[in-house]
Amino acid sequence: MSGHSQWKTSTGFILASAGSAIGLGAMWKFPYMAGIYGGGAFLLMFLIFTIFVGLPLLIMEFTVGKMGRTYTTQIYKKLTGKKWLNIIGWNGNLAVFILFGFYSVIGGWIIIYIGYVIAQIAIFKSSTLTNIQFETIISNPWLTVLGQGIFILITMVIVMLGVEKGLEKASKIMMPLLFIFLIIVVAQSLTLEGALEGVRYILQPRVEDMSIQGVLFALGQSFFTLSLGTTGMITYASYAPKNMTIKSSALSIVVMNILISVLAGLAIFPALKTFGYQPQEGPGLLFKVLPLVFSEMTFGTFFYFIFLLLFLFAALTSSISLLELNVSNFTKNDNSKRQKVAIIGSILVFIISIPATLSLSSLSHLRFGAGTIFDNMDFIVSNILMPLGALGTTLVVGQLLDKKLLKESFGKDKFNLFLPWYYLIKFIMPIVIILVFIVQLF
Ligand code: PHE
Repeated sequence: MSGHSQWKTSTGFILASAGSAIGLGAMWKFPYMAGIYGGGAFLLMFLIFTIFVGLPLLIMEFTVGKMGRTYTTQIYKKLTGKKWLNIIGWNGNLAVFILFGFYSVIGGWIIIYIGYVIAQIAIFKSSTLTNIQFETIISNPWLTVLGQGIFILITMVIVMLGVEKGLEKASKIMMPLLFIFLIIVVAQSLTLEGALEGVRYILQPRVEDMSIQGVLFALGQSFFTLSLGTTGMITYASYAPKNMTIKSSALSIVVMNILISVLAGLAIFPALKTFGYQPQEGPGLLFKVLPLVFSEMTFGTFFYFIFLLLFLFAALTSSISLLELNVSNFTKNDNSKRQKVAIIGSILVFIISIPATLSLSSLSHLRFGAGTIFDNMDFIVSNILMPLGALGTTLVVGQLLDKKLLKESFGKDKFNLFLPWYYLIKFIMPIVIILVFIVQLF
């Protein structure tokens, strides 16, 4: 999006915010987190948090963006008169910067896989997917760094040229296609031997699988997948036309994210038994299992190739929003600085993405805090900076903003939802988030 211009219709806003939200979070991160933290138990907590915490917070971010209409390191001052509150915007900038650092590692894997499939077909004239060796790929530092470099480069070029609009239009076709593909993979996966066990694993919550850690990570997952607390969603709403529909847009983003998360789970877990994998494979889960599921299909390699392209597209519409947030804040919407800031930002992201990727191979023995460097970057973002940003905004909305103006920005209210939502944000949400922090400390 160039300058602080506006979209003419709310479709642009919905497509961009859905594009930002739907990405690696639902497809790659949800299954691997669920695999580690108890399957159905994790899904249940994730659903509860996404619906009762995520949805109201997403509505809050849209409401604030619509009210403030400026970039997010300025919006808090504009709305409250207090300059120091802009720190909430800066917190969001820091969050997306680190997030992009490890997001690009996974984006890089997608690119490497795409390259691999092309090479298989073009050079080796083979169409088998069964010999993609995930471990060999990620233990090659040059390859992974190259992959993530390309991912960052593509994101940078799109942001520099300011051609996000074209991508948003394309997502009208790409997103439904991705959805259909996921359903096909689920159907294939369900035919495999031992599939039912996997279905039960992901859909059936078992009390014995619940853990405090699982609960915390499920909340972090809700923040991650809805892009909450980074002020990214505030930014998109600040570009939207006045007649945008906040509640229904937020609801559809939440529903889509839940659907894609569940489908990704149903694509992966039923296949584990057949291919001899455990749910606790970690970040590589999707990359280890899906090629094998596709290999069972007629024209599997071709379909897997298309799937990877769609997956890359979904990841790019998210990474663009990560870079765009920093660009809009550091250029203060002055477009003459756009290219320079996009380039510098991308180089810095590339630098921090290197330890993230190495921590999954040669530096994997280096463990502290939440685990590897990669795990720690994710933890700092999803479990600290994002909730912190959301907490700051709930306090601003609940304690400092004028209720009447909020109601106006909240928009048409057929079901009288404003007051329940407002009190939820004012009293309950801050307590929930603070409680989570306290539990986390111990
Ligand atoms: N929600 C995105 C995803 O699930 C990640 C993201 C987080 C994007 C924060 C923008 C801001 O992939």
